[in-house]
Amino acid sequence: MDFRKTDLPVFTVVIATIVILGFKDADKPVLYTFSGLEFFPEMPATANPPTVEGAALGRFLFYDPILSADHSVSCAGCHKQEAAFSDAPNRFSKGIGGKPMARNTMPLFNLAWYPSLFWDGKAASIEEQVFHPVRAHDEMNLNWTTAVQRIRQSDFYRPKFRAAFGNVEMDSVLIARAIAQFERTLISNNSRYDQVLRGEVFFTADEYEGFVLVNDQTKGDCLHCHTTDADALGTTATFSNNGLEAVFKPDGYKDKGKAAITGQLKDVGSFKIPSLRNVTVTAPYMHDGRFQTLEEVLDFYSEGVNNSYNIDPKMEYAHQGGVRLTKDEKEKIIAFLATLTDTAFLINPAYGNPFVRKK
Ligand code: HEC
Ligand code: HEC
Repeated sequence: MDFRKTDLPVFTVVIATIVILGFKDADKPVLYTFSGLEFFPEMPATANPPTVEGAALGRFLFYDPILSADHSVSCAGCHKQEAAFSDAPNRFSKGIGGKPMARNTMPLFNLAWYPSLFWDGKAASIEEQVFHPVRAHDEMNLNWTTAVQRIRQSDFYRPKFRAAFGNVEMDSVLIARAIAQFERTLISNNSRYDQVLRGEVFFTADEYEGFVLVNDQTKGDCLHCHTTDADALGTTATFSNNGLEAVFKPDGYKDKGKAAITGQLKDVGSFKIPSLRNVTVTAPYMHDGRFQTLEEVLDFYSEGVNNSYNIDPKMEYAHQGGVRLTKDEKEKIIAFLATLTDTAFLINPAYGNPFVRKK
């Protein structure tokens, strides 16, 4: 599926209009406007387009431990802004009860373009995704009935829900919608690389060579999976088995990845292709956080690839263990990867903890 071809802005507007019609004119929530997306694929349509009020409410909920059983864990407890909303430097986040999770916490940005969420794609939308961590026993461990009761009883949230959704009964769907609206506003589009695309600055010589190596099929050969040339997402947002495991039978995988959801043999060992954006601040790497540094990641792609069961044929050099880069080439690729760090995103006050009052 090529989600980039999705072309349904009219649909979005229609849905938004229907939602907004539930309000008296003066109280209508204001649709959130996005900008600076010239080099991104068209944003796929959604039945839940962010409004200023909805995203503001979602931001409170994202930072509020009210959605965890013992009021100890919020979404932000594992997804930290300064780490591009990953949990770097932790390999595995700890949720309620302190038990480490089975997979590395994913960063959160540019989610609006992802047709499915999680390392194995088990959530088909951002809205659906929200339901998982709240009830997961090792994450927030709260049943949704209690979650909804808590929010309904809150004088703090009642007016915020009204502003975002009108005079309707608060429920779990609206909680999920509000958090998803906030998440949809988490746009990373102001790295040095973005500034180069927009013609505002130039790459250094090393960064430029790294960019060329990433996109050269006879060199880094990263481009089939991690897009950086005229598609600024840094990922095709599809799933792939990039040869991490040396196993030759489907049941040899400790974590079967996407196959655990689809039950299909072809998906064994396939994981969501992460964006290359902000990778300098999201170590460790891969679904199991096995690599501590980008040097280790490059060594893997260069010499450490396992030509294993079900490897993605787009790993074209797997038969020789990888793309075989020189030390100098690896350093240049890392120099390029560093241009994808969006410092403005990491400190953007609009994404920070709204409960912290500025003095
Ligand atoms: C205890 C730590 C923890 C908490 C709390 C937590 N998450 Fe996560 N989050 C993770 C981990 C780990 C993953 C990857 C899990 C997987 O793929 O199996 C993840 C994945 C995600 C993803 C998928 C990103 C992608 O690119 O596919 C989204 C979105 C997300 N979390 C949002 C949230 C929201 C919203 C909340 C609060 C309601 C939340 N998380 C609470 C640890 C946490
Ligand atoms: C065939 C598709 C494919 C190719 C080609 C590919 N990758 Fe990946 N990449 C993936 C997948 C899939 C993952 C996640 C794998 C996992 O966790 O199981 C990944 C993970 C990564 C990560 C870790 C990101 C994170 O957040 O954990 C980095 C960095 C990375 N790749 C860089 C590169 C570079 C640099 C190249 C070229 C030298 C490259 N990749 C080539 C598919 C690919």
